[in-house]
Amino acid sequence: MTALRKIYSFNGFSNEDDKTIFNLEEDYGAHHYERINLVVRQAKGCWLTDEKGNNYLDCLAAYSAANPGHHHPTITGAVMDALMGNYASVLSNVVYTDPLGIFLSEVSQFAPQMAPRFGNHGNKVLPKNGGVESVDTAIKAMRYFGYKHKLIEDGKQEIIVFDSNFHGRTISVVSFSTSRKYKEGFGPLTPGFVSVEFGNLEAVKNAVNKNTCGILVEPMQGEGGMKIPPKGFLKGLRELCDSHDLMLVCDEIQVGMGRTGRKFCFEHEEIVPDGVILGKALSGGLIPLSVFITNAKLMDMIFSKGSEGSTFGGYPLACVAGIAALRVFEEENLAEQAARKGKVLKERIEKIAEKSPHVKEVRGQGLFIGIEMNNGKAMEFCQKLLKLGLIVNDSHGHTIRISPPLVINEQEMDFMIEQLEKVLLD
Ligand SMILES: Cc1ncc(COP(=O)(O)O)c(C=O)c1O
Repeated sequence: MTALRKIYSFNGFSNEDDKTIFNLEEDYGAHHYERINLVVRQAKGCWLTDEKGNNYLDCLAAYSAANPGHHHPTITGAVMDALMGNYASVLSNVVYTDPLGIFLSEVSQFAPQMAPRFGNHGNKVLPKNGGVESVDTAIKAMRYFGYKHKLIEDGKQEIIVFDSNFHGRTISVVSFSTSRKYKEGFGPLTPGFVSVEFGNLEAVKNAVNKNTCGILVEPMQGEGGMKIPPKGFLKGLRELCDSHDLMLVCDEIQVGMGRTGRKFCFEHEEIVPDGVILGKALSGGLIPLSVFITNAKLMDMIFSKGSEGSTFGGYPLACVAGIAALRVFEEENLAEQAARKGKVLKERIEKIAEKSPHVKEVRGQGLFIGIEMNNGKAMEFCQKLLKLGLIVNDSHGHTIRISPPLVINEQEMDFMIEQLEKVLLD
């Protein structure tokens, strides 16, 4: 093992050159991600900087985790205060902490009343770390709801999910992915999921049976190709869940927290789900933090002492970041910013698309915009854009994903459009 590397140099943590960093990952890391040839040394606002000081406009924002921009001063400041003030470290979950209490109360009120048909009891929140952990909590919640409330035999509960879904990578969650690469060779897979076509309400209706306990849906699919379901789809799911007494859970890990121009993406159809999952931007992209939120009455029915937990879930540092990120969200009107800027940006991209021989379709809502390519090879275009200083990647192979931090300014959008013109009109 090499000696301890010098830290906190001017160009980001160590003074190792890019080649050394590539090699370290190649030699010591699992090769589970396809990376682009870029070592990022610093991230600030909407920009990423490499070793030579070249700047790249971040049009991915860590798939919505960096919604408020990288190293937002308010969130970074709160984290620094917690570290310097000795109230940041993980504690045994046998004690109470005020960051957790305050975070729980703020995030429970951040969401509208979940599952209002069960009464106006307020919401309760179960905190975890990465997003998929809270997806797992939501699955447990739906299954327990089926068992306890609907009297489905334990082990027979079924959850309806959607083709091309992406909810994370644990074994249970990849079990209901419709993408082979996420699950091949990882069996035995977790049973109890039925997948139907995204946006097809008839297919959902046909999938409901006596063992169905819930529906898990991304209100818009991110990894699945930046897909927006037909109008009325979420409303239809809501009605179906009401008439069959099912739990409707929205995974808003990528499309919540303002990304699509509303605080929650489900608001576009003016529905309220029975549970919601948030992650990524919940802590402003600094610390893993996710939550499952549901009606207090349901949360109390489902989880009892010892039935769930996580060492770091809701630890003080994450909660401090979460409280600060919620404050930034409100104070800076991030949802409104996304709605306003997204409208302009989409119109400008559509104008390029009209003249482009390469673009099949532009779709999007807020700052969640997909450009589907005729040749189905979005990555070819992403590589060209990288050379011009734009960080983008593909969604589902065929679509360029545009999802910059919500604080992107006009000059930055002009820069983005200039580069898109160069590549898409070529
Ligand atoms: C909709 C959705 N759900 C769940 C996840 C998983 O979150 P994490 O990678 O933090 O576990 C993601 C990640 O991209 C996501 O986009």
